[in-house]
Order: sequence, then structure tokens, then C-alpha cells
Amino acid sequence: MFKGTIVFINYCNYMKYKSFLSITDLSSRELWNLFDTASKLKKEIKKTGKNKEYLKNKVLAMIFEKPSLRTKVSFAIGMNQLGGHALYLGPTDICMGKRESVHDVAKVTSSMADIIMARTFLHETILELAKYSSKPVINGLSDLQHPCQILADFLTILEVKKKIVGIKIAYLGDSENNVAHSLALASGILGTHFITASPKGYWMNKVITKSAMTLAKKQGGSIQEVIDPNVAVQNADVVYTDTWVSMGDEAEKEKRLHVFQKYQVTELLMKKANKDAIFMHDLPAYRGNEVETKVIDGLQSVVFQQAENRLHVQKALMLYLLKINL
Ligand code: NVA
Repeated sequence: MFKGTIVFINYCNYMKYKSFLSITDLSSRELWNLFDTASKLKKEIKKTGKNKEYLKNKVLAMIFEKPSLRTKVSFAIGMNQLGGHALYLGPTDICMGKRESVHDVAKVTSSMADIIMARTFLHETILELAKYSSKPVINGLSDLQHPCQILADFLTILEVKKKIVGIKIAYLGDSENNVAHSLALASGILGTHFITASPKGYWMNKVITKSAMTLAKKQGGSIQEVIDPNVAVQNADVVYTDTWVSMGDEAEKEKRLHVFQKYQVTELLMKKANKDAIFMHDLPAYRGNEVETKVIDGLQSVVFQQAENRLHVQKALMLYLLKINL
């Protein structure tokens, strides 16, 4: 749950490098180019077992304030496959903002590494890191957004549905979280119809909703928020959910498990979506809470394709931010 004030800052305007802090840091054209590069890199590694060493001698510093599986593994392996190296800095290694200021961490790390990826509690921390870093910074999840996940999600949708523009995504559960926010903004940029179903009090941050709606208007998509999950899934091509208890929300666990009960993605609910609808989840998933086991482990689920695509699309992202062409 995001509690701060939202500011969309793009530091690339006056810095040598562009950072990726919000999904809105990339235009529709840049996103499509990224999907294209990711698909090429994916094809290359599937066919030959390796990629060209585009990032030879480059180092990625990975700063984590929270736990991670997909982000850590995909960035580390991605860097390795491109001939570079990834350095892991866990929550107790640097204690950013406590043992050392974010300003100093940014200055020191960016003087040695070529690119930084950070997973932080507060979105403000990642903004500050990018402000003082002399190298590109990637948001590997903050309380406001999870843009890398959403890159992988749309690559997956493109692979499975063969299109992005005009499809309908229904997101159920906690819409006040990072994944829902980035999905809404990306839907706006890419011309997708995005609808969330959540109990009152758990709708998207109003600034995000407004920005996503403005983007959607330009691109021919739409952004909608409802309470009833049955309404949301009608004609949906994608049914998406996320954990009801995001990292940082643990103190509210009991309350949340109760409040979101009606939003579980069940087989019955999936039947109300389009026949060929797919089920998506950014993982980690809590079977029996936000999704029925039969759904996430069933034929409509693409969750592991989504997870794998983190690897391919983030490699494309790092190349783009470091201005390296295939
Ligand atoms: N909304 C979840 C995403 C986990 C990848 C969280 O912030 O914990």
C-alpha cells in the first residue's frame, strides 16, 4: 500500500542516462521496441543456448530492501548471459538510509557500477537514488510501482494473444498496490482496456487512476474501477490477480484476508471471462487466498511464462538504458 505523495519525475532530461522508475518513463514506441528486442534475445538463447556478450565487463549493482526471487534471479542470470556481472546487496549489507544516506549510496555505487537496480519499501527512496546516481537506475519494485513485472506481463500477453491493443484485462483484489498501478499505467500507454474490481478503500491511488485515464484516452484504451468481480471479468481476455498482502502490509494481514475473500479467482469466475481468457499472477502466489489452486495450476494459467519473461525483457531493458543496440 502506497502512503506517500506521487510525483512523476523523469531524470533523463538532464542526465546522461535515462532511468526506469515508473512504467511511464517509456513511451508506447519504446515499449514496443523493448518487446521486439526481448523476443529476439529470447529466440537467440532458446536456439543457440547463449546470447552475444553485449554487456561484457559491465556490472549491475542490485540493491534489495525486501526479499525477492524472480527479480534477483532474472537480473543476475540476465546479466551473466549478456557477458556482464551482477552484484547482490541485500537488506543488511548497506542499510540504505540508516547506515548510509541514499545520496551517498547513489554516489558511491554509481561511481563503480554501470547500472543499478533497486527494490525499496518507499518509492521516494528509488527517486532519490536516481536523482544522485550518475548511471541508470531500474525500479525493481517499490510500494508504488512494479514496472519490470509489467514489461514481462505485456510481453507474455503479446506472445499468447498475439496482440495488446484493444484487449481487456480484469484485475481482481488489492488495486491499491504496485502491480495494479503499473498495470493501469501501462494499459493507458498501450491502448488496453483495464478494469479493476476491489472493495471500497482498496482502489488505485487517485493520481495513478487519473494519469492512466488520460493516457488511455489518447491511445484508445480505457481504465475502469468497480466493486463486483463478476462485472469485471465479463468479456475479459486476461484475468489477473496479486497477493492480498504485499510486502510492507503484513501488519494488516488478518484484515486483508477477510476483506478480499470475495475476490478470489475461482474456476467459476474464470468461466465468466472469455472462453480463451488467460490467468496471470506476478507471483509469489498464495493458493487458496487470491487464487484457487485449480486455476493457477490449470490450463489457462500463464504464470510461469510471465515469470520467465522477466529474464528476457529485463535484458532488453538494460541494453536500452545503456544505449546498446543488437
Ligand atoms: N504486490 C506484491 C508484489 C510482489 C512481487 C508486493 O509488493 O509484495
